[in-house]
Amino acid sequence: MAEKILLTGGAGYIGSHTYVALLAASYEVTILDNFQNANRSVIDRLEQLTGQPVSFAEADIRDATTLAGLFAEYQFDAVVHFAALKAVSESVERPLDYFDVNISGLINLLRVMDAAGCRNIVFSSSATVYGVPDETPTPETAEFRAMNPYGQTKISGEQILNQLTAADDRWNVGILRYFNPAGAHDSALIGEDPRDIPNNLMPFIAKVAAGELEELQVFGDDYDTPDGTGVRDYIHVDDLAKGHVLSLAALLGDGQSHLVNLGTGEGHSVLEMVSAYKRASNRDVPYRITERRAGDVPVYVARADKAEEILGFKTERNLDEMCASSWKWIAGPHSSEDPGPEEKG
Ligand code: NAD
Ligand code: WQD
Repeated sequence: MAEKILLTGGAGYIGSHTYVALLAASYEVTILDNFQNANRSVIDRLEQLTGQPVSFAEADIRDATTLAGLFAEYQFDAVVHFAALKAVSESVERPLDYFDVNISGLINLLRVMDAAGCRNIVFSSSATVYGVPDETPTPETAEFRAMNPYGQTKISGEQILNQLTAADDRWNVGILRYFNPAGAHDSALIGEDPRDIPNNLMPFIAKVAAGELEELQVFGDDYDTPDGTGVRDYIHVDDLAKGHVLSLAALLGDGQSHLVNLGTGEGHSVLEMVSAYKRASNRDVPYRITERRAGDVPVYVARADKAEEILGFKTERNLDEMCASSWKWIAGPHSSEDPGPEEKG
């Protein structure tokens, strides 16, 4: 009997890729999403990609009644929890919205799960919990440092889950700290689809390469890095999706809770990404060096060995493959589809 999984935020960037990976691993998956940051057309594209209807519910993670109804209907065995707000700069402008969705939403989900007797959860955390790390590559033992409301919500989420498992050993929790997800599914049917001007580097470069944005601003070239620009640990979104399949298997298999970084353990600079994207797209990527961005750290790279040790997780795709898959998505017919009047503006 296939195990049943609820994928909250499953219409989003990482969630949609994880949906495909979970189906390939023979799970039965239901998506819950309020389409606050996703295009409804992703559901049709997931059906096209997987060749089967998508079980999904349009709902808010804070809607306990609808959530309880879903658990009664489907009897889920586990939850992979992606639904959250995730833009650092926006979290500074709208902290209460971030606390509401990311913390109250999590607590609401946990209450409904507990009442339904479903106590297996994979939680989307972020390298942001490290703030400005003392050590790079950064191990999971590095201390929490909240630099912004968004990072605080991920720290709070981890602390809630840690306290819950300490109080009730029936809970099995997988906490996954992603570094910098990038790239898209090889089919070019799903990918990162920022509605507004992208915050993150790769989608911004993609829009410059596509001619939708004039130039890239490189936020500082005076860091203590090989070429002076910021260094990050970019991980292909399909490698990230695979990490969730392994995390789920560990929870549903031997009930082993775990907390791991998901990264490659390798860093690449902004200018390295620009060069790789130019190779992948055969397009120019004009850029201008500007001031550092407030809150940026010089280097964020994962200590990635614990995920391999505990989950058998290893990344397979490199920066060139991330850029090539991103370009195929951006140049394809589906990225930035008109969200339609009722979609998120
Ligand atoms: P995303 O915005 O593409 O996906 C989040 C999904 O959640 C969207 O489809 C959105 O519509 C949905 N959602 C938001 N609020 C909701 C609510 N109240 N009720 C129901 N659905 C809601 O973001 P993503 O990049 O796929 O990130 C997924 C998760 O991974 C988030 O928790 C994020 O914090 C975390 N994360 C992302 C990154 C990154 O760089 N993308 C890095 C580390 C961690
Ligand atoms: C990467 C590098 C920038 C844009 C963010 C969030 C983090 C997580 C991942 C959710 C940096 C430089 C960027 C640009 C640039 N999200 N850059 N020009 O800041 O490492 O992490 O996304 O959990 O919480 O903080 O990613 O892609 O914004 O920046 O020079 O237009 O690219 O300075 O060195 P970041 P990023």
